Amino acid sequence: MKISVIGTGYVGLVSGVGFAKHGHEVTCVDIDEDIVQSINEAIPPIYEEGLEELLEKVIDSGRLKATTDLKEAVKKTDITFICVGTPSEEDGGIDTSAIESAAEDVSQALNEKTGYHVVVVKSTVTPGTTDRLVKPILESGGKKVGDDFGLGMNPEFLREGVALNDFLDPDRIVIGGWDEKSRKTIEDVYESFEAPKLVTDIRTAEMIKYTSNALLATKISFANEMSRICEEVGIDVYDVMDGVGLDHRIKRDFLNAGPGFGGSCFPKDVKAIKNLAQKMGIETKLLEAILSINDEQPIHTVELLEEELGNLKGKKVTVLGLTFKGGTDDIRETRALPIVKSLLEKGADVTGYDPKGMENFAELIDGINYAESIEEALIDAEACIIQNDWEEFSELEGEDFEVMKDKIVLDGRRVLDEGALDEDIKYLSIGKGQLD
Ligand code: UDX
Repeated sequence: MKISVIGTGYVGLVSGVGFAKHGHEVTCVDIDEDIVQSINEAIPPIYEEGLEELLEKVIDSGRLKATTDLKEAVKKTDITFICVGTPSEEDGGIDTSAIESAAEDVSQALNEKTGYHVVVVKSTVTPGTTDRLVKPILESGGKKVGDDFGLGMNPEFLREGVALNDFLDPDRIVIGGWDEKSRKTIEDVYESFEAPKLVTDIRTAEMIKYTSNALLATKISFANEMSRICEEVGIDVYDVMDGVGLDHRIKRDFLNAGPGFGGSCFPKDVKAIKNLAQKMGIETKLLEAILSINDEQPIHTVELLEEELGNLKGKKVTVLGLTFKGGTDDIRETRALPIVKSLLEKGADVTGYDPKGMENFAELIDGINYAESIEEALIDAEACIIQNDWEEFSELEGEDFEVMKDKIVLDGRRVLDEGALDEDIKYLSIGKGQLD
């Protein structure tokens, strides 16, 4: 099929490249000429594992190209996926301006086009957005959904860092469609994908995305709440969750306690669905609790260190891991920010290190030092907090901490092998109490 993909952020580009791998003819559209040029030269503007190789292949084979000309792209293709950002607004709701502007351009293209075309929203939008907001814009040029064009919603479930793999080998594909013909066209796009396909209406598809992310965030905040109890009872929440996770109805995934969740999806999506509910007069006690537990965890992380170290004023504290998780340079909603803020408020002398995130992090906050390597970051430190799960942190051994002044290590993500550390290292972690 001939597909156009609007927006070449990580969702749009990964989807475009993935569709091309499945034999479709893909046109990626972006308003940024530099990004378009870079894609056409097979240089991905973002980092995702495996993306560079696959982009090169699909560009060489002629199955993918990029352009700034949205109208031409839509006119020449059978189906358009809108993959533009829907960032948070101040009140937690989503900012739909990019999607509205894309829909306006698509509407003009539909007007000039002959033949059937399906428009699919892939961007994460709250239930009702596609039919209440996007549909009227698409129809503003005079064409009518159902008769002249099709409409659908097809949420993405891509994790940063493994997005290409998640796209090519998904747990499920959710296809929401306005009518049978729209749904059938979207199903045809995914015909060669070996994954369960759930075909539904548009609002259900929109809601599945929010409900999935809210439930995953619930698991994390639940693990964090249980971790507080375990700390006081003198046991390890990770052992508890190993037992809990063996129940096939629960599963062990996403039950890891730590400084909380960050990233571009969980915080934004939980806030957005909460905001929608509140606008409709629905109480959201659970969603509020998920967010408030998540806000408290970084503060609690610093308090755990304080319990061991006493007053933090003037203490040299190193934070290893500044991005929201390992394997990315993304600092959106990173838990490193509230941790560093709290450390600075308490008067600590903070040094940060991250393999990829230091430049981005430096734009968020002033007043900390940066180190070029883990070793440099640890020299003379009186404590260190491991905030994310980069592989190079999990490879650290006892001797790597020898350069510290006081060997106090708070392993926020349980990346170290505690048993293999020297006895003179004081190993602390979240959710693990001491038996009395
Ligand atoms: C997430 C969803 O997994 C994906 O399906 C969705 O489309 C986008 O949001 P991503 O934000 O890339 O993906 O990261 P993910 O690996 O899910 O982790 C999110 C955050 O939760 C990270 O900060 C991570 O450290 C934290 N986390 C994860 C925990 O604190 N505990 C866990 O058990 C798992």
